[in-house]
Amino acid sequence: SNQGLKDYYQSYFNIGVAVSPQTIKGEQGALLLKEFNSITPENAMKMQPIHPREDVYNWADADALVNFAHDNRLKIRGHTLCWHEQVPAWIFKNSSGGRVDKALLLKRLKDHIKTVVGRYKGKVYAWDVVNEVIGDEDDQYLRPSLWNEICGEEFIARAFEYAHEADPDALLFYNDYNSERPVKRAKIYKMLKKLVDNKVPIHGVGLQGHWSVFEPDDTELRESLKLYASLGLQIQITELDLSIYPWEKNLRAKKPDEQDRFTAALEKKQIDRYTRIFSIFRSFKKEISSVTFWNLSDRSTWLDQYPVPGRKNYPLLFDQNLQRKKAYWSVVDFR
Ligand code: XIL
Repeated sequence: SNQGLKDYYQSYFNIGVAVSPQTIKGEQGALLLKEFNSITPENAMKMQPIHPREDVYNWADADALVNFAHDNRLKIRGHTLCWHEQVPAWIFKNSSGGRVDKALLLKRLKDHIKTVVGRYKGKVYAWDVVNEVIGDEDDQYLRPSLWNEICGEEFIARAFEYAHEADPDALLFYNDYNSERPVKRAKIYKMLKKLVDNKVPIHGVGLQGHWSVFEPDDTELRESLKLYASLGLQIQITELDLSIYPWEKNLRAKKPDEQDRFTAALEKKQIDRYTRIFSIFRSFKKEISSVTFWNLSDRSTWLDQYPVPGRKNYPLLFDQNLQRKKAYWSVVDFR
C-alpha cells in the first residue's frame, strides 16, 4: 500500500528513526521518507562529535540532518546535551591539566548547551537534555560519573535551565533505559518528582526502549507509563529496538562466532513482542507523543556492534533488504 508507519499512526503519535548523514541518502533515505515523520541524530549532536575541543564545534553533520528534516517537513529530536558517554575529555580538565572544579564545569555545560540549543532554536522541537544519569545497581541512586562526582546532583537541574533559556519553546526530556524496571523506575521517578516540584523546566520523559524479544514485561511497562504520566510529563519512546538476545545474555555476551541465527522461533517471538508493545503504546495515546526506532533496518544497527562487535542482530521492522518484516504488518494491523 501507499501508506507508511507514520500514516497508520497519524492519530496516535509521531514515528521516528535515529539517523546519520549517510542514512538519509539513496534508498535508505527514500524508505525513511515513506515510513517516518521524525528523526533523531544518532550521534551527530552528542558532545564529543559536535564539541571535541573547547573552541571547536563541528556543525556539518548536525546541520545536514536539521536541514534534511526542515526540507522534508520532518520533526527533529535533539540528542543529547549531557551524558557520561561520548563526552570529550577536555570538559573535565582545567588549564593545568587537573580536574575542573564545579563552577567551571557548570559554566562549560552552560556554554555548550546555549550554543547547541541556540543554533537550532525553533528547529529542534524536543531535546534529550540529560541522558542516563540513574544508577543501574540497586543500591545506587545516581550513576557514578564525573558529572556527578564534580557537581553532585545539581548539574541535572542546571542542564534543563540552560536549555530552557536557550529555547523556551523546546520540549525538554530526561531519557534513560530500563526505565520500566521497578527498582530503577522508582529512582527515576524520585529524581523527576524533585525536578517537577522544584519547577525545573522539564516537559517529558524518554523511555529508550532498548528491549529484546524477551522483554519488557507488559505489566511493568503499563505501570511505568502510568507512573511517569502521573507527574504531568509527556512520554516519548526514544530508542526502540527488540534485540534477538535477552538482556542477561548481553551481560555475558557471546562472541561473534557463537551468534544466534534469526530463527523462525525468534522471529515469532519478535512479532509477538512488537504486537504487544504497540498495542500498549496505543492504549496510552494521550500520554505518548512519539515513538522513535533506534536505526532504520536490520541492514545495519548499532546492536551489530554492541555489546559484541561483529555479532549480527535483527531488531527492527525492516530487513536487510529494506523490506517490511512480518513484525511490521503486525504493528500496523489494528483497525
Ligand atoms: C549509540 C549509537 O547508536 C552508536 O552509534 C554509538 O557508537 C554509541 O551510542 N543509548 C543512547 C544512544 O542514548 O545515544 C546510544 O547510541 C545507544 C544507547
